[in-house]
Amino acid sequence: GGFAVVVVAAGSGTRLGHGIPKALVALDGRPLLEHALRGIRCAGLTGPVLVTVPAGDVELSATARAHGARPVTGGASRAESVREALTELARSEPACTAVLVHDAARCLTPPEVFRTVVDRLRAGERAVVPVLPVADTMRRVDDAGRSLGTVDRTVLRAVQTPQGFDLALLRSVHRAAAEAGTDPGSVTDDASLVEAHAPGTTVLTVPGHEHAFKITRPLDLVLAEAVLRGRAP
Ligand code: CTP
Ligand code: MG
Repeated sequence: GGFAVVVVAAGSGTRLGHGIPKALVALDGRPLLEHALRGIRCAGLTGPVLVTVPAGDVELSATARAHGARPVTGGASRAESVREALTELARSEPACTAVLVHDAARCLTPPEVFRTVVDRLRAGERAVVPVLPVADTMRRVDDAGRSLGTVDRTVLRAVQTPQGFDLALLRSVHRAAAEAGTDPGSVTDDASLVEAHAPGTTVLTVPGHEHAFKITRPLDLVLAEAVLRGRAP
């Protein structure tokens, strides 16, 4: 079976503050989702691409279809959106054995990050996560803001997407999280579900990329415009 890609784009973009779903916000005149889908094709991924969209969406769905991807109505949280896409994948692509889950908001992720994740899955890994070292000094604090001390940052990594999984594994940990009553709003990525619900399964980290940052706040959009200007056309 082949690789599928799930692009999660059903969020509202509250922190970016444009009043429209973030994946619709324009970057160099084109929606973030379009940049994300082009990146996936540039990486040579030819399998099915599913895009989670907000309920009632028309525009993101049209963008998805225009780029050969299929829209799926997402859920109230990122984890629920992934779950909706996995259900649709089981229905429409029963031969799929592996999946990449990618944030539409990481729309400038270079092709080599996708390829690295895919290569490790092909080599037999079941959960692969791109990461970067953290640049700031990290400190734990209590509820009152008192420092509990500095954390050794050399053992810390910031987590990116695309995250790659054996499809049966990802399905089973999402099901286990739902059965355990985990608050889906507290689940910020998929690999954490593997650690919580498939103990003993290795989550392999691979090098991420600075350009795979998530467009979250207004400053991130300024950075994205600058990255695009610096890219060869
Ligand atoms: N996402 C999703 N379904 C949701 C929430 C988020 O598919 N219910 C997607 C977003 O579209 C985004 C990715 O998950 O591509 C990462 O989420 P985040 O950066 O938090 O995006 P938003 O939830 O849209 O932003 P905010 O939290 O600021 O509202
Ligand atoms: Mg969010």
